[in-house]
Amino acid sequence: MKNNMPWWIRIPVIFFLIFGLMEFAIESGDQPAFIAYPITLFFLLFVLFLLIAIELILRSIENVMYHTLSKEAQQRYLANSSKPYQWGWAKRLLAKMTGNKPVEEEAEIILDHNYDGIKELDNNLPPWWVYMFYASIIFGIVYMARYHIFNGDNQDVEYEKEVAAAQIDIAEYKKNAKGLVDASTVEVLTEASDLKAGEAIYQSNCVACHMADGGGGIGPNLTDDHWIIGGGIKNIFSTISEGGRAGKGMIAWKQSLKPLEIAQVASYVYALHGQTPANPKDPEGEIWTEEP
Ligand code: HEC
Repeated sequence: MKNNMPWWIRIPVIFFLIFGLMEFAIESGDQPAFIAYPITLFFLLFVLFLLIAIELILRSIENVMYHTLSKEAQQRYLANSSKPYQWGWAKRLLAKMTGNKPVEEEAEIILDHNYDGIKELDNNLPPWWVYMFYASIIFGIVYMARYHIFNGDNQDVEYEKEVAAAQIDIAEYKKNAKGLVDASTVEVLTEASDLKAGEAIYQSNCVACHMADGGGGIGPNLTDDHWIIGGGIKNIFSTISEGGRAGKGMIAWKQSLKPLEIAQVASYVYALHGQTPANPKDPEGEIWTEEP
């Protein structure tokens, strides 16, 4: 009987081969497939069980066949199967790659000088080293041709291209992500849906102090030209987000409102300007003229 690889090498090797093929075949982005799609774990488990099952079936077939053998053949079979695995191919490969001369044949390659009993062998360069050397020469030629003759992208150019592509992605993302605003990037929102949302937020959070029409009460009049902390959408956003001066009663709404919501209510407040409230509070602060 052929001296097979032992099962404890065969099963893992086949298992990881299938595992590798699966990872290669399944497109799963940055994550390995077995994390991105946990269902594949079941597949792997199934493969493992299958391999073990095949192994067991082969065992039992072998066992059955053994009992059909004659006594003499059984002896031969046992003698053969009790031999440990020889690693024949690995040993042959190692011998080939190191190219060592056996000690008995060293006389053939000894050089004829002799320094105080120290002699030198004229060994060949080890084949593994020579092959790597050839491989690096081929690599060098391909590399030189690609990057220095045909001007392929070097790291600098690759980096710049990737950064440029990423910047386009970021711009695209920011365009679609309205929620990504802060006081420095906020713009007046003019879409009816945003103003409606802003009005709803204003009605449920702000009327107690600023009145439904913005005329002011505990808080200042939001419709006049006077601003305590500063007018313009960016200042309004920042006041709502960070709160007013300490102790005045205007809290930092960033605790309870999302950036987009603050932008919406800020745009609503911004639009209140110039309206005539029923009961306007006296102007407070400076006249704000600079447009945002
Ligand atoms: C508890 C009362 C209270 C509530 C509720 C309140 N504010 Fe105020 N708000 C104030 C006070 C008081 C000030 C003045 C702060 C100061 O003097 O520093 C103020 C100031 C402001 C200012 C700046 C005005 C200026 O002249 O610079 C804006 C804008 C503002 N509030 C918007 C809002 C919005 C929007 C809401 C709802 C999300 C809100 N406030 C809820 C009391 C309140």
